[in-house]
Amino acid sequence: MASSPSLLPLGLLLLLILVPFALAAPSHCATPPDQRSTINIFRASDPCSPFRPSVRSSSWEDTMMNFMTYDESRLTYLASLATSHRPSGRSFVPIAPGRQLLQIPNYVVRASLGTPAQPMLVALDTSSDAAWFPCTACTGCASTSTSASFDPSSSTTYRPLPCGSPQCAQVPNPSCPEGAASCAFNLTYGGSSVQAGLAQDILALASEVVQSYTFGCVQKMTGNSIPPQGLLGLGRGPLSFLSQTKDLYASTFSYCLPSFKSLNFSGTLRLGPIGQPTKIKTTTLLSNARRSSLYYVSMIGIRVGRRVLDIPPSAFAFDPATGAGTIIDSGTMFTRLVAPAYAALRDEFRRRVKAAGPVTSLGGFDTCYNGAIKPPAITLMFMGMNVTLPPDNALIHSTAGSITCLAMAAAPDNVNSVLNVIANVQQQNHRVFFDVPNARVGFAREFCTAAA
Ligand SMILES: *[C@@H]1O[C@H](CO)[C@@H](O)[C@H](O)[C@H]1NC(C)=O
Ligand SMILES: *[C@@H]1O[C@H](CO)[C@@H](O)[C@H](O)[C@H]1NC(C)=O
Ligand SMILES: *[C@@H]1O[C@H](CO)[C@@H](O)[C@H](O)[C@H]1NC(C)=O
Repeated sequence: MASSPSLLPLGLLLLLILVPFALAAPSHCATPPDQRSTINIFRASDPCSPFRPSVRSSSWEDTMMNFMTYDESRLTYLASLATSHRPSGRSFVPIAPGRQLLQIPNYVVRASLGTPAQPMLVALDTSSDAAWFPCTACTGCASTSTSASFDPSSSTTYRPLPCGSPQCAQVPNPSCPEGAASCAFNLTYGGSSVQAGLAQDILALASEVVQSYTFGCVQKMTGNSIPPQGLLGLGRGPLSFLSQTKDLYASTFSYCLPSFKSLNFSGTLRLGPIGQPTKIKTTTLLSNARRSSLYYVSMIGIRVGRRVLDIPPSAFAFDPATGAGTIIDSGTMFTRLVAPAYAALRDEFRRRVKAAGPVTSLGGFDTCYNGAIKPPAITLMFMGMNVTLPPDNALIHSTAGSITCLAMAAAPDNVNSVLNVIANVQQQNHRVFFDVPNARVGFAREFCTAAA
């Protein structure tokens, strides 16, 4: 699989930015008692989709490995903060950046599995259909502490799924070796591989309870690109959380991702059509049968200040056969634009920015400035919907605060070179609404970052 050398610097920069936060006091993570039944979401760094070659580079994985090996005892602590089945009456699930809790650049929610409930922190990934939890005695799982893996033997509602079950036919690489009563499967996620048994148990996210949730009980993992406590795939594929809960939530959800510098679970995941914004700008949701879990939309242009950039329409064209087009993703940190679109944006941005010094680069970012700048507004233009990025969503500041960069990059020069990915940093502090039945995606400004 091709990988982009430019992704490594991004990973390193991320590390530079994140490490100081990762060392911050755990008390910031505490959840008020009235919110203990909520689930927290982390951002998983490694998408299983072929669109994320960047996170597949071994260098990126090394970086992630560094995050994850930081402090295993921290996982134990964090898990002790997690949820029980006690209903809270809330209709949403709190979201936090995984940076501080698990040292991963994904957003996470709290979940609990089994009876009695076992607390976990699971990564949210809108571009994945996978649903898994590391199980006790898992070989190679990042979470070695018992509190951060699921123990099937102490759940009275745990049920392995038999080989002939319909779900077994939907998992990748199912296997039912001689004498095995239950279904097992292998899959790859980023550069990692997972071996799991297919099972069902009760899943709770905040006050939301899914009675027979089908998931992979992970027995063996290789590689380090896997979120340590589990993954909640919000993609549209057959066994994703969304598909499994179609009757409950009608394939409708929205989230507000807090600033990735946020210190607690102030973001929200809202499941189901109830309580969703009614007045919200939307654009059409497209589907690609070949990449069925992805949320494709039709981006048609980019505006800098009041000027619509001269970008060839081919840079935005949706083509199911090649995978070209634009996706909204919650598993990638920084937006990637195909080369001609990025070049046009970068050039116009540089022309208009008011800065004291010359352009420099930092890691994978090629448009950086020392000291304060006055940036032009960037608007992403979708069919029927313009989204103007607030400065915090367009720029990234180095930890020391002295360098500011345009927080986007060109698509990697590989199989994903035709895909525009609208990523987390650009979605921060917006309500992003996914309405699959009505084929639309909405954006509205919403502040969900608690003051640090
Ligand atoms: C899954 O992986 C295991 C261990 O590598 C291997 O023995 C097994 O054959 C694989 N199963 C499938 C269905 O690929
Ligand atoms: C997050 O922290 C802020 C400020 O400390 C606090 O007001 C808020 O209630 C916290 N939110 C959650 C979900 O813990
Ligand atoms: C988006 O911005 C463009 C350029 O300014 C404008 O022509 C278009 O009408 C806007 N679209 C919507 C839906 O507001």
